[in-house]
Amino acid sequence: MAGDESEQRRVASITAALRAASAPSAPRVALVLGSGLGALAARCEDARVVPFRDLPEMPQPAVAGHAGNFVLGRLGDTPVVAMQGRAHLYEGHSPAAVVRGVRAMRSLGAEAIILTNAAGAIRPDLDAGDLMGITDQLNLTGVSGADAAASSPFGPRFVDMQGAFDPALLALATDAAQGSLALGVYAGVRGPAYETPAEARMLRTLGADAVGMSTVLEVIAARQMGARVLGLSCITNRAGGSTGGGVPGGEALDHAEVERIAGHATARLGALVEAVITRLGAGEAAER
Ligand code: HPA
Repeated sequence: MAGDESEQRRVASITAALRAASAPSAPRVALVLGSGLGALAARCEDARVVPFRDLPEMPQPAVAGHAGNFVLGRLGDTPVVAMQGRAHLYEGHSPAAVVRGVRAMRSLGAEAIILTNAAGAIRPDLDAGDLMGITDQLNLTGVSGADAAASSPFGPRFVDMQGAFDPALLALATDAAQGSLALGVYAGVRGPAYETPAEARMLRTLGADAVGMSTVLEVIAARQMGARVLGLSCITNRAGGSTGGGVPGGEALDHAEVERIAGHATARLGALVEAVITRLGAGEAAER
């Protein structure tokens, strides 16, 4: 084997455990459910749960009480595998650990990967409660989710990131959202500190519409392995404070209000993800 053999073994071990739990039908679509979105997995039919703690190769959630599960089942007619919870760089995990679950779900056979997250708004017209389809990304973490080995079993070393967010999947999501889906560029930062107002202004200058602490490495890993990617952000707050990074010393964020809006928006995001998967399944049935 070329590249990081121990990493390949970890991914293969997780894949084997998921395969044992996924019979008879291999998942077609993989989901990564960001904070507050775990409930969508509960809508899976014939659900089987594989806790991360039963998989020694999976990075364990550092925060006690955070759900860390794979859920395998069906949404509509489509067999799916979902991650309830994910690993972040800010928890001290390596880039390889952050993308391990995505690699395993792709190895299991998932052709499309839907990545969801909570994000702060950078663009002036975005606000808490909005849903944003990701058109492109800025990876500002300083590391990559690709296996850099010259001959990696995960795919080409130099990953083509043009069109990384599948235009057809984004069109399906836009259609399913019936006009309620904003579109924009997601900037991925390491965190865990939120942005200063100056950093939020810098991100705007760089071309970001929203900012968060996940997703970008998973997108690179998924693209290296040739999966189609859809990214959906739930805007929970204005980055850099309520003034959106415009004026230092603006009004402080009201966390209770942010959480209230986020709870509402995540329910809508869950419904949107389900609608996209249903349409994806219907489209594939029509093609057959
Ligand atoms: N910044 C970075 N990550 C985030 C934010 C933010 O404002 N909100 C939710 N995740």
